[in-house]
Amino acid sequence: MSISERIETAITAALRRHQGKSAPPRLGAALYYACTPGGARIRPTILTSVALACGDDQPRLTDAAAASLEIMHCASLVHDDLPAFDDADLRRGKASVHRAFSEPLAVLAGDSLIIAAFEGLIRAAEIDPVRAIQLMAILSERSGMPNGICAGQGWESEEKIDLSAYHRAKTGALFIAATQMGAAAAGQDPEPWEELGARIGEAFQVADDLRDVLLDEEELGKPTGQDDRLGRPSAVSELGVEGASARLDAILAGAIASIPSCPGEAMLAEMVNRTAAKLAPRVKTDRPNS
Ligand code: IPE
Ligand code: IPE
Ligand code: MG
Ligand code: MG
Repeated sequence: MSISERIETAITAALRRHQGKSAPPRLGAALYYACTPGGARIRPTILTSVALACGDDQPRLTDAAAASLEIMHCASLVHDDLPAFDDADLRRGKASVHRAFSEPLAVLAGDSLIIAAFEGLIRAAEIDPVRAIQLMAILSERSGMPNGICAGQGWESEEKIDLSAYHRAKTGALFIAATQMGAAAAGQDPEPWEELGARIGEAFQVADDLRDVLLDEEELGKPTGQDDRLGRPSAVSELGVEGASARLDAILAGAIASIPSCPGEAMLAEMVNRTAAKLAPRVKTDRPNS
C-alpha cells in the first residue's frame, strides 16, 4: 500500500465507529464531511515518512497515529472556519462544515473529532501501550495550551501578537507532532525530531501566507486575502512577497540540514524537497503583489 492509501484507509477506519446506528446521523455525516475528501494530508504524510525512515516496525500503530493527527487537524479547521473565528464559507473547495450543516453541528463535529483523535490512540494501545502513551502525550502537547494549536488560535485574541510564537503554535505545532509521532510510532526517541518538524512548519506557514495573497479562491479552495481582511500578522505583511519567498527557501534548506541521522535520511530529504516543490511553484506565479 502507498503512504496515501495507508492514510486514507486509517482515517476511514477511525471514523467508521461514528456512523453507527446509535449515532445521530447528521453529526455522523458532518464528521465524515470534515475529514473526507482530504486536503494535502501533509501532516500524516510526514508522520508516516518519518516512521518509515525509522524502520516502521509497527505499521498499524503508525497508521493509527497518522489518522489521529489528521483528524485533529480537521477538527481545528472546522472550528477555525466558524463565525466566531474566521467566518469562512469555503474549505477544501466545498462549503465549510457550519455552512453545510449548521453552527451547532460544526461545534460538535470539531469537539467529536478532537476526542476521536485521542480515542484512536487509546485503541492503538493494544499494539504497544508505551508507544501509544507517548503518542498521546505528543498530540496533546501540540494541540492544546500552552504550545499547541489552541495557544496559536488564542494569540489572535491578544492585543499584541508575537508573530513567531503565534505561527509556532498555530501551524508549527502539528508539524512537530508529525515528525515526533512518526519517530515515536517506530520506537525511536522523538526529541531529536522536534527541529525538523518546527522548520517544516515554519516553511509551510510562510508558504500559506504567500498563497493567501498570490492565489485566487478557486485555486486555493478556501477564501483568499484572509490575513489582510482579518488584520492578522503574516510573513507577507512583515517581509513583502519577495522577502517571504526568500525566507521560504532558506527555511527549507535548514529543514533538510536538520534531519536526524537514521536509515531513511536520504528518503526524508527527498520528501522535504517534494513538499517544497508542491508549495514553491504556486508562490512563484507572476501575479501582482498586493
Ligand atoms: C491549513 O492547513 C491550515 C493551516 C495551518 C495554515 P493545510 O493547508 O494543510 O490544509 P489541508 O489539510 O491541506 O486542507
Ligand atoms: C488555521 O489557520 C490553523 C488552525 C486551525 C490551527 P488559518 O486560519 O490561518 O488557516 P486557513 O487559511 O483558514 O486554512
Ligand atoms: Mg484562522
Ligand atoms: Mg482560517
